[in-house]
Amino acid sequence: MESVSTLEKVSSTKEDYLEQILDLIKEKGYARVVDMASRLNISQASVTSMIQRLDAGGLVKYEKYRGVILTEKGTLLARNITKRHKILSDFLSLFRLEEDTVYRDVEGMEHHISPPTVKAIAALTKQIRDRPEILEAVDAAINHSD
Ligand code: FE2
Repeated sequence: MESVSTLEKVSSTKEDYLEQILDLIKEKGYARVVDMASRLNISQASVTSMIQRLDAGGLVKYEKYRGVILTEKGTLLARNITKRHKILSDFLSLFRLEEDTVYRDVEGMEHHISPPTVKAIAALTKQIRDRPEILEAVDAAINHSD
């Protein structure tokens, strides 16, 4: 897979769309405007206008009856966005945080983090997993600071 750093940069909003589109395609086999609107909590008209912009940028293809399809470029970008989400989510999930908190924090962080930092976090997560005593110490520190 092409590395994240060589991929084009798109806005946070576009990243959220690509992430949702890939997720919907994985889950249902297709991504419809109506499903995107309900997931992103925005109007179908807004979704349609964003889809047109993504289409113009060569990231998706919009077909009236099939819904939205990711192009090769869009797929690559969406997979990287999803991978980055998972790395950040795996990291925050090490600590006994609420699932909702992890999700919301990752959704915020993911757009503002550079590929080298994501790589460092992935490596750190692995190191911490191999050393459960670190988590115990972190946990104890969190509980003592309350
Ligand atoms: Fe995400």
